Amino acid sequence: MTELTVTTTSVASLPAEWAVIGVAPGAEGPVPVPGPGTSGSFDDGIPRLLAGLGATGAPGETVALPAPAGIGPGLVLAVGLGPADEPGGYDPEVMRRAAGVATRTLSGADTVALALPARTTEAVEAVALGALLGTYAFTAYRTAAQRAPVRTVTMVVDPGRLTPAQAAVGRALVLGREVNRARDLVNTPANDLYPESFATTVAAAGREHGLAVDVLDEDALAAGGYGGILGVGQGSVRPPRLVRIAHTHPGATTSLAFVGKGITYDSGGISLKPVGANEIMKRDMAGAAAVFAAVLAAARLGLRVDVTGWLALAENMPSGSALRPGDVLRMYGGRTVEVLNTDAEGRLVLADALVRAGEERPDAIVDVATLTAATRFGLGDHVFAVMAADDAFRDRVLAAAGEAGERAWPMPLPPELRRSLDSRVADIANHGERMGGGLVAGLFLREFVPAGVPWAHLDIAGPAFNEGEPHGCTPSGGTGCAVRTLVRLAENAAAGEDPARRIPATAAATDGRAGER
Ligand code: BES
Ligand code: MN
Ligand code: ZN
Repeated sequence: MTELTVTTTSVASLPAEWAVIGVAPGAEGPVPVPGPGTSGSFDDGIPRLLAGLGATGAPGETVALPAPAGIGPGLVLAVGLGPADEPGGYDPEVMRRAAGVATRTLSGADTVALALPARTTEAVEAVALGALLGTYAFTAYRTAAQRAPVRTVTMVVDPGRLTPAQAAVGRALVLGREVNRARDLVNTPANDLYPESFATTVAAAGREHGLAVDVLDEDALAAGGYGGILGVGQGSVRPPRLVRIAHTHPGATTSLAFVGKGITYDSGGISLKPVGANEIMKRDMAGAAAVFAAVLAAARLGLRVDVTGWLALAENMPSGSALRPGDVLRMYGGRTVEVLNTDAEGRLVLADALVRAGEERPDAIVDVATLTAATRFGLGDHVFAVMAADDAFRDRVLAAAGEAGERAWPMPLPPELRRSLDSRVADIANHGERMGGGLVAGLFLREFVPAGVPWAHLDIAGPAFNEGEPHGCTPSGGTGCAVRTLVRLAENAAAGEDPARRIPATAAATDGRAGER
């Protein structure tokens, strides 16, 4: 694992192999953007060299060049930042991506000094987090030697900012490690990650970090009447689990419940998926992975809020014992569901977990799920959907995503679509109108949320997994989507934010009203 340290020493005097600097497009070609501790070091000859090497300063671009004489690091990696969007400097997301691109490009290097222009504590944290996310590589199943992640990253910060920078880097270390933990789980193939092994992993992490973990196995699920989780899992030789992992704080005044879809493999069941759709389905536990990682992060950050994670784990397989289309399940809490399509399994396991989570009367519930292809078609692979029973909480979740640097977009729950889930034999069917299928799924889940508890549903079917090339601080494969948003929500709750209260229209409007009084 990459080590990350902070220094106020100028980059020219650091004993690193590489110095990473930011480059912006200038009127006469690319220009190095001064960062903390770079003063004068990269002025001589570097702009000409950059131009000669074809650099433009565009975001994501990297150019390697020899360092000017007298500089500690012998090599320079110039990372394009694009034009600064504000006079005060770059958006944290630009910094995060630049740092991620740098550490990914330099994998195999021993020591890297980051001299990106992080001029605020927020930017320092962004660079630290981006650097850690960029080091991620999933090599557990490679037998041939791979390029190792950068061993040590040293961040250069302004002397006046050392103490807040160290705190920001501490937070980034937790977030980076936990996002990478979620990525590892998503990337682990379903022959090794199945409900029981996932539950064992959670229990071990709970022991390590002092969190309470309770695991319901198939017998406990049967005794408790968890028909949704049991039904989805009954076709697999690997039995299902419901895992509860809780972070509690003695001073907490708010409690959040996070509920994750943990289908360790989704074949579709008897409503079998075709080739092309089934080889990508080890990712179907990404919601549970995000919930697990977020609860751990909340604990490791010592957040003054209670956060309970619920992981609904099952493998959806076709077999002689599998759920049949037409079967009726009796869910946890007693309601019945007619299963018209066994491939709409996520909502079945989530329904049980939502009802169970709701029994503890948390102040808000957020579920996270790779739930529908429809949402993936709608929003693509870079943006996740947020649906909610009330707009106030939905906006809180969207704001948290924005603050955390994740891209989310609101989707509605049109009441007209609810009727399509009416069943001829049971309380509700698991499959309805195909048009707006992601919204129909959200409407199904809503039925299982206790009245009066703010609830939001995150459909991460697209952005949970990157089938393409790495970009910014996003690797190929599991992305760790939603971990940062959930942690931010928990931080906001710890800071006294009431999930149920509407966000004031704008700070200016609030000020204006204050002025009237
Ligand atoms: N896990 C899938 C959704 C999915 C698709 C996630 C692609 C990631 C990438 C989910 O269980 C599913 O099969 N959904 C069906 C629901 C339908 C049968 C109502 C879908 O979206 O097609
Ligand atoms: Mn499915
Ligand atoms: Zn699924």
